[in-house]
Amino acid sequence: MKKSKTIILAAGQGTRMRSQKSKVLHQVCEKNILDYVVDASKGSGIADVAVVVGYQADEVKTSLCPGIATILQKEQLGTGHAVLQALPFFKDLQGNLIVLVGDAPLIRPETIKGLVTEHEARGHGATVLTAEFEDPTGYGRMVKNQADELIKIVEERDATVEEKKIREINSGMYCFDAQTLILALKELNTNNTQGEYYLTDVIEIMRQMGRTTGTYMTPDPEDIQAINSKVQLSEVATVMKKRINSSLMDNGVIMIDPGATYIGCEVIVGQDSTLYPGVILEGKTIIGKDCLIGANSRLVNAEIGDHVTIQNSTILDSSVDDDTSVGPYAYIRPGSRIGKHCKVGDFVEVKNSTMADGSKAAHLTYIGDGDVGKNVNLGCGTVFVNYDGKKKYRTTVEKNAFIGCNTNLIAPVTVKEGAYIAAGSTITDDVPEESLAIARARQINKVGYLKK
Ligand code: UD1
Ligand code: CA
Repeated sequence: MKKSKTIILAAGQGTRMRSQKSKVLHQVCEKNILDYVVDASKGSGIADVAVVVGYQADEVKTSLCPGIATILQKEQLGTGHAVLQALPFFKDLQGNLIVLVGDAPLIRPETIKGLVTEHEARGHGATVLTAEFEDPTGYGRMVKNQADELIKIVEERDATVEEKKIREINSGMYCFDAQTLILALKELNTNNTQGEYYLTDVIEIMRQMGRTTGTYMTPDPEDIQAINSKVQLSEVATVMKKRINSSLMDNGVIMIDPGATYIGCEVIVGQDSTLYPGVILEGKTIIGKDCLIGANSRLVNAEIGDHVTIQNSTILDSSVDDDTSVGPYAYIRPGSRIGKHCKVGDFVEVKNSTMADGSKAAHLTYIGDGDVGKNVNLGCGTVFVNYDGKKKYRTTVEKNAFIGCNTNLIAPVTVKEGAYIAAGSTITDDVPEESLAIARARQINKVGYLKK
């Protein structure tokens, strides 16, 4: 490949999105649509990228990863004008200038490579990435001569009835010979129905200059689908979801219903783990091997070991180690670390707490700001009373302790190693090692009381 640079056009507002937010800052599978385009260029081997910004320029700029140049297009006078603003970025380039659009995030590195390869092999001044659509409405049409050479691109608005019948459409993505493009851009005018500088006009201009121009039809029309509305945003998200899920399945993940499984672009799932319908995996979630993630579980930035079972539960910014089972209906909140061979059962909430290997809270328990040692049993209805209305305090339950049902542990408090707490106790003082604590009123039977 010759030396190449990419510019991405992203200055437009995207009026049809009906949004306060710039179109390119909308997300698909947890990533800004513009970032997908940047990553596709990098993935194709072209890391020298500049983005043309305009609408919400500052927000778009700060959203980009470091090393990506931006160029301000103050007024959006058309795609040709946008490329002209970027001239300083490629004026000395002896090689290819790739132009992509910020609102078409499905473009893949392979497709960009294919475009560049075709462009270089033919020695064209410009090669346009195209697709054949059943319904080409709204897109620029590729007009070719008898010899099947591309002679111009006409916009829908400017097309004749005959031209409108052409089904090969302009993706808005191109590979140009940079120096030829610079000469052609100088000839652009605004003689069209929109009064804009059309980048598409450079095709005709290059032919007048004696250069050849051509097309590269994408092997997969999904590649070029642009987002102009919220409906198209959801359509693109569906394709992206399919790509993410297929790639996980190719790596050995089992999905009962991939269409109903929502996974962010950075999530990692290990071999032979099974995901049930309604599973949502977000952020930097990592799941190990052989896990079962049951229906309607939502995991955000969760780190899950191997052989873990999670049923119908929510886990946020926390970790769960090997062979542990969670749920159904457990809620593990940020800052929690659950060990190996643990059980966090039904209606158990854990917050900012640790639970060491082999410990169990089988049902109806709140573990807030606590540290639970190894092989502890927290009986049904145990509550870590961590809040006095003003401050939060921590509770420690050391290894091998047994907490009877319906116990309140009033923090700050420590239950020492091997201690045993009678059911129904409200514990306000530390409990020594291997001791029994009973903290409840004694039962009094008033015999025959109701007969009187
Ligand atoms: C453009 C093409 C059309 C093609 C279609 C593919 C032209 C004249 N037409 O039409 O042939 O089929 O894309 O989607 O190029 N932008 C700027 N600055 C501007 C104008 C646009 O940065 O002054 C950016 C937009 O933010 C967008 C991209 O360029 O990312 C395309 O602009 P848009 O107005 O959507 O072009 P279309 O009319 O769809
Ligand atoms: Ca468009």
